[in-house]
Order: sequence, then structure tokens, then C-alpha cells
Amino acid sequence: MSFVGKGIPPETLQQIRDRIDIVDVISRHVTLSKTGQNFKGLCPFHSEKSPSFSVSPSRQMFHCFGCAVGGDAITFLMKQEGLDFMEAVQELAQLSGVTLTIVDRGGHRDHSGSARERYQYIHTIAAEWFQQNLSDGKIGQSTRDYLEHRGMSLDIVKQFGLGYATPGWNGLLNVLEKAGVKREEIFQSGLIIKKEESPLRSGQKSQGYDRFRDRVMFPIANNRGQVIAFGGRGMTDDQTPKYLNSPETPWFSKGRTLFGFDKTRAVASRLDRLILVEGYFDVLALYQAGIEYVAAPLGTALTQDHVDAIRRIVKTVFLFFDGDAAGVAAALRTLDLFVNTGISVKVMPLPSGDDPDTFIRSQGVEPFAQLEGSAPTLLHFAIQASLKGQKGASIEERVRSVDDILRILQKTNNPIEKMEQIQVVSEQLGIQQQVLIDRYPTLRDKPKRSFEKRLESPPVQPGPKTLPKGSPEERDLVLLVLHGVLSEKHIELLQSEMFSVPPYRQIIELALQHRRADGGIDVEAFSIEALNNEVIGPIVTRLTLAELHCDDNTSHFEQCLATLERKHLQTSLIQLIAELRLAEQEHRAEDIERLIKEIEGLRGKKATLTMM
Ligand code: UTP
Ligand code: MN
Repeated sequence: MSFVGKGIPPETLQQIRDRIDIVDVISRHVTLSKTGQNFKGLCPFHSEKSPSFSVSPSRQMFHCFGCAVGGDAITFLMKQEGLDFMEAVQELAQLSGVTLTIVDRGGHRDHSGSARERYQYIHTIAAEWFQQNLSDGKIGQSTRDYLEHRGMSLDIVKQFGLGYATPGWNGLLNVLEKAGVKREEIFQSGLIIKKEESPLRSGQKSQGYDRFRDRVMFPIANNRGQVIAFGGRGMTDDQTPKYLNSPETPWFSKGRTLFGFDKTRAVASRLDRLILVEGYFDVLALYQAGIEYVAAPLGTALTQDHVDAIRRIVKTVFLFFDGDAAGVAAALRTLDLFVNTGISVKVMPLPSGDDPDTFIRSQGVEPFAQLEGSAPTLLHFAIQASLKGQKGASIEERVRSVDDILRILQKTNNPIEKMEQIQVVSEQLGIQQQVLIDRYPTLRDKPKRSFEKRLESPPVQPGPKTLPKGSPEERDLVLLVLHGVLSEKHIELLQSEMFSVPPYRQIIELALQHRRADGGIDVEAFSIEALNNEVIGPIVTRLTLAELHCDDNTSHFEQCLATLERKHLQTSLIQLIAELRLAEQEHRAEDIERLIKEIEGLRGKKATLTMM
């Protein structure tokens, strides 16, 4: 994979890699202790009691011998913080003090990093000013009362950085201007609305006004906890809309952001589950009650991007939504989004009249836990909801009532899952599976095309727990290559065709593509590329961090190579002999002669190898 395509110049990436130490990066998340040349700790990606998570300062790589996850500092941040490649590189750039310049497709350099930084700066100033207003004795009094009335502790208000936008038209505008922010950037932030030029007003100084006035302000953050937008709630009924959100900007998209997720993703990841609620206050109330694995979309329906962000963190999602008709319709849309994601979705229907906020504050954590513990799957829930009022209905009517659900289920790629789902539907409907299959032929499993198979596998798969079976020689040769202990003369002798285990062959092929001018292998450049490969990445990190177990690398190399060559010769011999038999049966004299010669040649080679 080329990083240039990702928009970061290779030399910048190299600069970042040179400056950071993976041990520092990982130490921010995992307690590491030194053992020998490496560091060890408890793996953050699976639960374990004794440390099998290993970090190598010399290789700048990590690997878990328990769950086979591994990679470099970038991969670590991607997995640990659920970032994409760019976000991880940006975070490392910040840590290492490297200025990131982005290269666009045409190769033109654009310091959009700094436009983003200025956007960020504006939001930081705004968030601070809102908070200051809230804590101000006079200005913030009514809002503090409102928050208290809504059961929010001071602690939670602080943790989520809540604030207050004053009623005036240019409170924030003045603050930003005083801070020296340019007009254009002020408008670009979306926090100040540009006034239409009016001939009547020409000559008037102010050309913009605050978007948020007299509202409780909820900062909305990206994955890294940086404020990129706000939601503001009016405190009286006559304020419309009740909630006002920042507009979409190049740095903020509602469809990609979940409120609270920056704070809750780590706990959600550890517990491997997430509660999805509808509103800001729902997130706060649950968090305050100690349920720290919660997030909410921003007043819009869940999107595919949301689901993608979620599935990097957890495998189970609970929808803590209204159980009413609108809730069911929303649940069905959600069902569609989650098909083929590998996420199991459960539903916690709320008693009517409650929302998560009022439920948790009036009922407490125990009923919540019960609701969570007994939550039906989204499929069960959707069927039951669709069947409501269908008692005594004919088979035809019952099937028709779950028509929407069946149409969604048809998209399931996994045949086992599909059979289970058909079974659930048929049981709940009280009809035979065959009736369903007859009606929806695509519910029946069909041979899959390869791209469907690819879609079916969950995106974040742990690597193989063990190395490929068999062929210890191939494994050891790869090990020696990865540890960079071979001379160019030895490397010259390696040929990927000799390797019979596909991942090992792939690793050797890739390694041979990364030869330096002096003939050796550029292990670092090779590793960077290998780590981005789902199949060989985990094997490479594992072998890179494995100890070299032989006393004499050179003789071990020669022995392994000889064994491989012998095996390779043997396979070729068997093949040639089979061809010879066939040629003899068909009396192809010319072929017979040629094959006998070839076989003799190989036998001779094999004999010399055995003597070595
Ligand atoms: P709700 O209207 O269900 O209110 O909006 P809520 O969350 O229970 O709010 P409180 O408890 O009355 O304060 C749910 C979510 O929908 C979005 C907001 O994100 C809100 O949290 N919303 C709602 C808007 O964006 N605009 C609105 O006018 C109303
Ligand atoms: Mn509410």
C-alpha cells in the first residue's frame, strides 16, 4: 500500500516514525515493564491475567502472543482509539511535533492541516467562553439552576464541558474578534452566521451574529476529544428549535459523529458493548449513573458511517429507544444498517412516556441492568412489533406483516446466520420455514461469489492465533529474514517459489521486493508494507518479536534452505514421474525421452543436496 495515495508524503511519515518511540505511545495506554530487550504488559485487545503483549523498542513493533494482534505505532493507535489511518498519523504527528502537510491527488501541497487547526482553535475558544459563562455567578445562574433541575451533577457538567451561550447577538463574535480570528474563518466555523448584505444596513459595522443564543451548550468532540461542533438546548418552551446544532463543515459531519463517544469508546471497547440513546441528556444521565458505555447520534438517524465507527469498537449494540410505532420504524431501518456487520443488535424498549434520561433517574441502575440483561435481539423485537394486533391472522397475513423484515434478511451473506434468522422468523410466526423460503427464494443459501465472501467477514479480524501449520523450515527462514541477520549472499539464494505455505511465500516475495542497494533487505520498509496486509501482517509482527532460537544463524539458514530445496525437488520429481507414466501410456516417445532426462537431472541435484 502506498502512503502517498493516503495524502501523507512518505518523507513526513518517515520523519514521524523517526521521532516517536512506540514504547512511549503504548505506555499511555498499557503499563509496560522491561523484560530482556522487549517490554511486556497486559494486552489491551483481549482480556488476560498474565502478560502476553510484547513491545519491541528496537523494531518499533508490538505483538500479542495471546490474540495475535500486532503492528507498529500507527496500527496500535488505530486499534486502541478506533482511529482511521489519517487520524492516527495526525495524532502521532502532534505527539512528535511534526507539521503535517497533506498532498492532494494532483501533488499540490496545501496546508489544510492549519485551516483545521484554526477551526479547532475557534472551537476551543468558544467552548472555554461558554464554560466561563456557565460558571459566572450572575450570568450562569439560571442555566446552573436548569441543569440542577434536570438532575445533572456539577461533576458531570464539568466532565462533558457544558457551557452557556448568552442571549446577546454578538457575545461570541466579539470574543473571537478579540482573539484575533479572521472574519472569514469566523464564518467558516459555523458558530457565527453571516448577515445578508442589505443596502439599508450598509455602513453598519457588524456583519454577523451568534448562532447560539441563550442556550445550554453541549460540546461535540471528535475521536480525539477535540471540540468540533456544539449542540445547544433552549431552556424555555418558546425557544425553537428545542435543540440547535452546528452546521456541517469540512471538519464536522453529523452523519459521522456520535455524541459522547470520545469519552465512552474506551470503556465500551473493554466491555465490548455500547448503549445507543437518542439525546444529549440521555448520554449524560446514563454516564452519571455509571453506565459509561453510551453514545447518541446528533438528532439524525443512524448512518452507515456511524455503524462503521461503532463496529471498530464493539460487537454488541443495545438500542435504548422508545418502543412506540416510530421507535419500531427506526428499529427496522437500523436492522437494515446492521445486516452483515457482524454486530449483534439488541433492543431495550423503554416504558411509554420515559426516555433513557428519565428512566435511569427515576428507576435507577438495577432496572436498567435487568432491561439490558433481558434485551431481545433486534430481529426478535422487530418481528414481535410487526406482529402486534395480528392475532388470529392467516398465514398469508402474518407473512405479509413481516415482509419488510424478510426483505432485509435476504441481504444476509452468512449462510449460517441466515438459517438461524429464518428459524427465528418461522418460530415467531408459527409457520414452517419452507413457507418463508418458497416466498423469498433468496433466503435460501446460494453459492457465494468471492466478493460477497469478502464482505461477509467482519472488518476487524484478529489475526491467526497460531502461525501457519507445518514447514518449520519455512517459518525459520522467514524468521531469519525478519531479524535481518542474513548476508546478501544468503538472501541471493532465497526464491519465493520454494515456499509452499502461501503466507510465507508472500512474505518472502515482498521482502525480496525491498532489497537495498547493497543487496540486503530493507526490513523497515518491508515491514511497513507487510503490516498493512491482513494475512501476513500478524505473522510478520509475531515472528519479528519472537526470539531467535538458533546458535548459529548461518548454518541454520543453510540447513533450512537445503531441506526446502529437497522438498521442492521431491515435489517436482513426483510430478515429473506422473507425467512420465502418462507419456508412456500414450506412447509419446519424444516426451518420454525429455522427461527421463529431466528426472535424472533432478535426482542428481537431490543427491548433492543430501550430501550437504
Ligand atoms: P428529544 O426531543 O427527544 O429530546 O430529542 P431529549 O433528548 O429528550 O431532550 P430533553 O430531554 O427534552 O432535553 C432527541 C435528540 O434529538 C435532537 C437532539 O440531538 C436531541 O438530543 N434534536 C431534538 C434536535 O437536533 N433538534 C430538536 O429540535 C430536537
Ligand atoms: Mn429527554
